[in-house]
Amino acid sequence: MAAASRRLKLVLLAPLLALLFLHSDTEAANTINGTSATDGSSLPSSSPGPRARLLASSSRHQSVFSLDRYGARGDGEHDDTQALARAWKAACASPLPAVMLVPGGGKRYLLKVAKLSGPCRSSVAVAVKGTLVASPNRADWSDGKDRRHWIVFRSVDRLTVSGGGAVDGNGETWWKHSCKVNKAMPCKEAPTALSFHYCTSLRVEGLKIVNSQQIHMSVEDCTGVQLARLFITAPGTSPNTDGIHITRSKDVQVTDCKIKTGDDCMSIENGTHNLHVSKVVCGPGHGISIGSLGDDNSKAEVSGIAIDTVRLYGTTNGARIKTYQGGSGYAKDITFQNMIMYNVKYPIIIDQNYCDNAKPCKQQKSAVEVSNVVFKNIRGTTITKNAIKLNCSKNVRCHGITLQNINLKMEGGKDKPESTCQNAQWRKSGTVLPLPCTA
Ligand SMILES: *[C@@H]1O[C@H](CO)[C@@H](O)[C@H](O)[C@H]1NC(C)=O
Ligand SMILES: *[C@@H]1O[C@H](CO)[C@@H](O)[C@H](O)[C@H]1NC(C)=O
Ligand SMILES: *[C@@H]1O[C@H](CO)[C@@H](O)[C@H](O)[C@H]1NC(C)=O
Repeated sequence: MAAASRRLKLVLLAPLLALLFLHSDTEAANTINGTSATDGSSLPSSSPGPRARLLASSSRHQSVFSLDRYGARGDGEHDDTQALARAWKAACASPLPAVMLVPGGGKRYLLKVAKLSGPCRSSVAVAVKGTLVASPNRADWSDGKDRRHWIVFRSVDRLTVSGGGAVDGNGETWWKHSCKVNKAMPCKEAPTALSFHYCTSLRVEGLKIVNSQQIHMSVEDCTGVQLARLFITAPGTSPNTDGIHITRSKDVQVTDCKIKTGDDCMSIENGTHNLHVSKVVCGPGHGISIGSLGDDNSKAEVSGIAIDTVRLYGTTNGARIKTYQGGSGYAKDITFQNMIMYNVKYPIIIDQNYCDNAKPCKQQKSAVEVSNVVFKNIRGTTITKNAIKLNCSKNVRCHGITLQNINLKMEGGKDKPESTCQNAQWRKSGTVLPLPCTA
């Protein structure tokens, strides 16, 4: 009896609480339409009570599913994976646009592997106010389990993840065990913190993603993606901690992101088409890379890539395209423009002889064809002489390369940087310093 009346109170209280949460939050307000919210989740796995339904059908446009109402504790110690799964299931089944709320106020929700799959009945907005934190116990990803993922959203249409909160991969224990850090360790994969697979009309914005076990965020097989205002950080020494990884996806926009990691700031891989990146700041890390493409004699297809208005601080590479010998396919219609580089090691680089294998890669006839690549309005400093390097394939020369308005100096100004080219068909426009292909 007492329990029942408490439940009733919760049912009545829930819409008010949800209202409070949403109104204290401008970030989510952008993505949540309608003036107020109700909670369709008064009881896990049951439909909204009559009163909630009444509210929902009159002036409400969405339902809110808070992790806490599905049994999550948010104390950073108790495992909240099942609570998250229940909240997701309810949100995904909601006939009204759903909000899955990760409450803030300093709460930390400890999670093991979490797979959140669609298709969902309506659009789902995940409002992350607090922190989702990965289990520090590597055994939760032990052999036989999926070692490659932590949080995965799969097959969801019109998913938004936002809210100003954080996703914390708790990566320290993984980094210590990486073969790149400790040579005695076997080389094994570590989880990607946040993955999106087969999503359409996806928005991820206003989030911190920190200390991932390996890649911070991966977009795979998605169409229509907007990533904005993401702040991704991990120590410059953390192994393989790419910032944003994109593959087999098209119509993707990335804007206003700050990415400091131990590996690629952004890695753009096979099957990426129509990607626009703007207002991104990188460093430390390995810079922005297209590739590697064509490994193990594979076919690669990448086109329509615009990297615009990017600053790189102390990164290994600036604007890079890398392909293995022996591949096929193409990387074409690529623009890197309006870039400022500070103390970058290899500011402009096309490497069609890339090799990152244990044994040297042998000479091969075929290659991924690299064409129509523009490097434009790029200035700054380099810490090695290699300001511009076009190392193209002997058999499949890269062509249609434009170098336009480039001014790269060596840090300190004592030495002159160089530009080296092999098998590249290029043209120059405006002032290009160092002069292209002189060394
Ligand atoms: C909110 O609703 C209005 C009017 O229905 C619509 O024009 C607008 O695009 C919607 N915004 C979002 C973020 O869904
Ligand atoms: C790259 O993408 C193409 C076409 O999308 C596909 O045929 C090929 O198998 C992919 N290569 C790899 C290595 O996945
Ligand atoms: C280009 O790549 C080949 C093969 O890896 C290498 O031998 C050569 O030194 C490179 N050229 C420059 C200028 O780095």
